[in-house]
Amino acid sequence: MNKKIIIAVDGHSSCGKSTLAKDIAKHLNYKYIDTGAMYRAVTYYVIENKLYEGKIINEEALKKDLDAGKINIDFRYNPELKQSETYLNGKHIEREIRGIEVSNLVSPVAVIPFVRKKLVDLQRAMGKEGGIVMDGRDIGTNVFPNADLKIFLTADAEIRAQRRYDELKAKGEDVSLEAIVKNIKERDYIDSHRETNPLRQAKDAVLLDNSHLTMQEQAQKAIKLAENILTRNMH
Ligand code: DC
Repeated sequence: MNKKIIIAVDGHSSCGKSTLAKDIAKHLNYKYIDTGAMYRAVTYYVIENKLYEGKIINEEALKKDLDAGKINIDFRYNPELKQSETYLNGKHIEREIRGIEVSNLVSPVAVIPFVRKKLVDLQRAMGKEGGIVMDGRDIGTNVFPNADLKIFLTADAEIRAQRRYDELKAKGEDVSLEAIVKNIKERDYIDSHRETNPLRQAKDAVLLDNSHLTMQEQAQKAIKLAENILTRNMH
């Protein structure tokens, strides 16, 4: 039987990693795991419990709650929307974690080493059987350094911001393109410069720049890479 492989999709913020990872997972009938949602869920807990001031996190209190098992994250499949959704302590928080409040605080939460350790352990446990596509920032470098396929996805910051701007405008949100460019560049900087598991391309990752690709084109390229590995494994 063909071995089920592990596929890591890392890359910059807002470049369509989750769309790509979902497309690959759907094609191969694999599980998709959104690790960004896990960092967002911890951030939501921080906000709900007021464990922060400005961008400073009350790490002592957060560690206490994390160690006491008060922060339980899981994904449940929503058959109506045909997607898995994030739950925190049994509460559906999929919509809340995508909002601006969580987005603005998630990078400072994601730099905390004990938060990363906890979530990385969970991610390894979720993926140990293979048959998964996991997207994040440190999947190919740290969570699964032996992943069978590693894709590093990127696009120009201005193009990413324009896409995000169009998306938010379509939802009727009042946003400025300038503010989005600033947020994206800030997140790129924090993600790539943090001490623990910074965002960087693994040596053996395939670089995919989708600045001038459609979603279908990027999916086709990635699926081809995955299929090559699966075929090679068969021989
Ligand atoms: O992919 P996303 O935008 O939902 O991720 C939210 C934040 O979480 C992002 O700013 C960086 C962080 N993150 C991380 O540090 N490591 C991961 N594996 C996934 C996300």
